[in-house]
Amino acid sequence: MVKTIFIGDVQAGKYDGQEVELMGWVKRSRGSNKIRFVVLRDSTGVIQCVVKKDAIGEESFEQVKGALIESSIKITGMINADERADGGHEMVASSIVIVGSVNPEHPFPITESAMKAADGGETEFLLDNRHLYLRTSRMTSMLQMRSTVFGAIHNYFRDLDFTEYQAPNFVAGAVEGGSTLFEVPYFPTEKNPERKVYLTQSWQLYAEAAMPALERLYTIAPSFRAEKSRTRRHLTEFWHAEMEVAWATNDEIMSHGEGVVRKIASDLLENRSTELESIGRDLELIARYADSPYPRMRYDEAVETLQGMGVDVEWGQDLDYSKEKVLTQDFDVPHFLTHYPKIAKPFYHRVDPDEEKYVLCHDLLAPEGYGEIIGGGERTWSEAELLARLDEEGTDKAAYQFYIDTRSYGGVPHGGFGLGVDRVCSWLTGADHIREVIPFPRDSRRVSP
Ligand code: 4AD
Ligand code: MG
Repeated sequence: MVKTIFIGDVQAGKYDGQEVELMGWVKRSRGSNKIRFVVLRDSTGVIQCVVKKDAIGEESFEQVKGALIESSIKITGMINADERADGGHEMVASSIVIVGSVNPEHPFPITESAMKAADGGETEFLLDNRHLYLRTSRMTSMLQMRSTVFGAIHNYFRDLDFTEYQAPNFVAGAVEGGSTLFEVPYFPTEKNPERKVYLTQSWQLYAEAAMPALERLYTIAPSFRAEKSRTRRHLTEFWHAEMEVAWATNDEIMSHGEGVVRKIASDLLENRSTELESIGRDLELIARYADSPYPRMRYDEAVETLQGMGVDVEWGQDLDYSKEKVLTQDFDVPHFLTHYPKIAKPFYHRVDPDEEKYVLCHDLLAPEGYGEIIGGGERTWSEAELLARLDEEGTDKAAYQFYIDTRSYGGVPHGGFGLGVDRVCSWLTGADHIREVIPFPRDSRRVSP
């Protein structure tokens, strides 16, 4: 029995001069009636296989000739180190089995010419064919890097003894304001026709309920936002890494934000440099994001800087994408903005006891014109203050009684943050659009495939 191996191990030089079996998909195929050159891909790489009629027999050879792009095959043969070959190796086939064929009446639809001819343009064409586009080398690299990012987040928090904790996705109240809430029509009943239920915007409020039990907790879960803005960094369903810590100050929480982002950059560099380079990313940038500290500046300073650059921004506004883009264009590493005006942020942000028009919060803004990747800060933790903040906002307290209760029984200073995982992936990979880094992106217009 010959050993079945991955193409990546061939490219690593582990099987030179040996007979092995490879399993994968046809990326390209060309040749004559006597010899075919089949470029095979699997999840780890590509290799050219030389297939001669004399070596595999007439019947198999005809099958190989008919094997269209994306047919799946098993192929046995000898591995030769060959400097001229792509990746430095090739296989000389001794036998081939076609496992899953492709019907010539509907060949693999993603081709250069089909992309050019597509009615709605290349981007929409590739989104319509997302289920097949996932197999391209660019998407494969993106998905592998995404997996590394998820792993880095889990490892960062677990190494510090955080408990992974899950919150419900159906909720009765907003966390991040009413304008981006998705209402779920299932829940109103005859008896209770007025009942409002939404998809969660954030794990945070339910994490705060568990804070007195666990003290250090985190999650990576989907959050949902009915975003009005269609930008290169907004999805309607995104993956949200959130954390909550008892007794923590804004500064301590920022250190965790910096720690986790630097850990992500460093893990990508260590484990995915090939993929980063394959999509044209400068590794020196990633190394800088892994190694350099992230400066902290106050919101007021950012507004003054923007005004100095001629940007039309007023004190008191939350900074949207257009403003963050300008601000971060010249940043060399991510920067924290702290102390936003109270009027720009929801009730749960703790008012700065030293200066009541600010809250003790932070956003982490990524460089290269990317903007916000983290939002967090200290929470309004005294019951009286929370009730006052809800009243000030005019928010109905009924949906938040559980949240108020967490303050009524031994409230303590605490806080946390939320990190947009897809945003971090898209910034660090240098993707043009957040859609590029998630397998099946959901935005305001697309829910299929
Ligand atoms: O700043 P946000 O709205 O903060 C919260 O949700 C807090 N409750 C988090 C917390 O303190 N536990 O969202 C946090 C992050 C943003 O910085 C951004 O990276 C990401 O979530 N995010 C989105 N990512 C993709 N598409 C969207 N529509 C996003 N909205 C927010
Ligand atoms: Mg935010």
